[in-house]
Amino acid sequence: MLAGLRRLEYRGYDSAGIAVVDGGAVDFRKKAGKIANLAADLEANPLPVSSTAIGHTRWATHGPPTDANSHPHVVKRAAVVHNGIIENFAVLRAGLEKEGEQFLSETDSEVAAHLLERELSSGSNLVQAMRDVVSQLEGAFTLVAVDAQDPDRIVAARRNSPLVVGVGDGEYFLASDVAAFIEHTRDAIELGQDQVVELTPEGVHVTGFDGSPAKTRDFHIDWDLAAAEKQGYDWFMRKEIFEQPKAVSDTLLGRLNERGELMLDELHISPEVLRRVNKIVIVACGTAFYAGLVAKYAIEHWTRIPCEVELASEFRYRDPIIDPMTLVVTISQSGETADTLMAIRHAREQQAKVIAICNTNGATIPRESDAVIYTHAGPEIGVASTKGFTTQVVACYLLGLYLAQVRGMKYGDEIGAILTELDAMPAHMQWVLDNRQPVLDLAEELKDAPSVLFLGRHVGYPVALEGALKLKELAYIHAEGFAAGELKHGPIALVSKGLPMFVVVPPPGRDQLRDKVISNIAEVRARGARTIVLAEAGDDDARANADTFLELPKVSTLLQPLVSTVPLQIFACELATLLGHDVDQPRNLAKSVTVE
Ligand code: AGP
Repeated sequence: MLAGLRRLEYRGYDSAGIAVVDGGAVDFRKKAGKIANLAADLEANPLPVSSTAIGHTRWATHGPPTDANSHPHVVKRAAVVHNGIIENFAVLRAGLEKEGEQFLSETDSEVAAHLLERELSSGSNLVQAMRDVVSQLEGAFTLVAVDAQDPDRIVAARRNSPLVVGVGDGEYFLASDVAAFIEHTRDAIELGQDQVVELTPEGVHVTGFDGSPAKTRDFHIDWDLAAAEKQGYDWFMRKEIFEQPKAVSDTLLGRLNERGELMLDELHISPEVLRRVNKIVIVACGTAFYAGLVAKYAIEHWTRIPCEVELASEFRYRDPIIDPMTLVVTISQSGETADTLMAIRHAREQQAKVIAICNTNGATIPRESDAVIYTHAGPEIGVASTKGFTTQVVACYLLGLYLAQVRGMKYGDEIGAILTELDAMPAHMQWVLDNRQPVLDLAEELKDAPSVLFLGRHVGYPVALEGALKLKELAYIHAEGFAAGELKHGPIALVSKGLPMFVVVPPPGRDQLRDKVISNIAEVRARGARTIVLAEAGDDDARANADTFLELPKVSTLLQPLVSTVPLQIFACELATLLGHDVDQPRNLAKSVTVE
């Protein structure tokens, strides 16, 4: 159980706990802080040996990270762990307290433990008790529970929150992510919405909340435990930065049919429907949102379909104009981001078709979409997304080219030419990684900088935003990305002597785009900024305006984000390492934000 929790720690690490069923009782240990605190407590106060146990790592939503607020929540014979938010917990808690129930925590989750214990005490078995409990809950939840008087059974239920079953050799597992049990088995069962799962030594039984037979999908996990380990790197994030050439290659793999036409694995939307699309809306959060901003430039250029990019958390509250001719594209590495999932729900209610771009097989978002393009980047453990971003951008390129193909906006040879350029990108990204020393030196030089700005134009603008986000979430310093042309409309007042400013310069050849960025660099340099310029090797004007020049391989404008983002990822990772921060688990963050 501890090993499994350690593999899930990246999803949230405010506290951790384990409960076991033994001799007609539930025994448990739970501690605030990292799993190491729980391990030390278990060392000092071991739990009894048992073949039935539940565990939890927490990312706090209700109530600070304290021992009492940690899961499992145990009420007499019932022990429960919970992911998600029980939105009606306050009303339920008030009712339970009126009946004399004593609460030990400030969490929403503890309500589920009291409700479950009440059902068990009134004679229900664990499965029926779980059904009765979930029928009272609103919101998002994965609940996993045991009953001291039913030692060979674990029962779970899920709605809007991840849960996957591991099928071992005479042993069964439940987890939010396959990483928890992959060392024991790579055979898994994907669950659907509103399902109850029962594990016993005899096997797995899945039903709907109402007890009806449930549809599930068996799948084999296509990566091994090593892929989930650090393989010698100091951080998962650094490993994942260096995995990007391979991850991008894997994203591009197998995308052509025998006629050399582009095909997208699970795109179950007919070309006829795609030909009728008259608007695309990309919906995502954080880094995935920036990937969507890059995608907009490519998709509009290649398909001439209007393409909006929306923050998922804003999308459904602005009453968006969506209809059956709208194609909604959601981008999510984890496939469990609640904001994005809720946006999908809203889009489908408006009859839009939804395509998910996702890195996690069996996740909720692909399952709730009409079609999916998996990025095949392999597990991304570092909370700060790196290969997730670059493979999302590639998947968006593939979608744009596919739409251009089915709508006749580009001939096969034009699409082939771009795909050939894309096939060369992993080598270009590898060149940037191999020539990273100037970036490492820069991190050393700037490690005490209180603020760093990032500028870019066109597809360089989302790269500037992503570079700033990396620095914020890893170094915990002020960092901000701007459209280079926007600086003179106010933000240039921020420029002071020595202020580090990264500027992403587009390749020459796309009208005056590059020349204008060179002017922007001169403007800030004239005011004392310390310019770090990312540009093609031969760009002498860019070099002349650079205090530090970071060379980029020569690639076309729309594909440049795949190489210009990499130095910014390395810079943030290195600077945070020099500051002594936990790069893989930055403060206040979690890998998958499964609450709205
Ligand atoms: C990325 O560095 C951030 N940790 C975060 O913005 C992330 O991209 C965002 O939460 C979306 O996650 P998703 O791709 O799993 O949906």
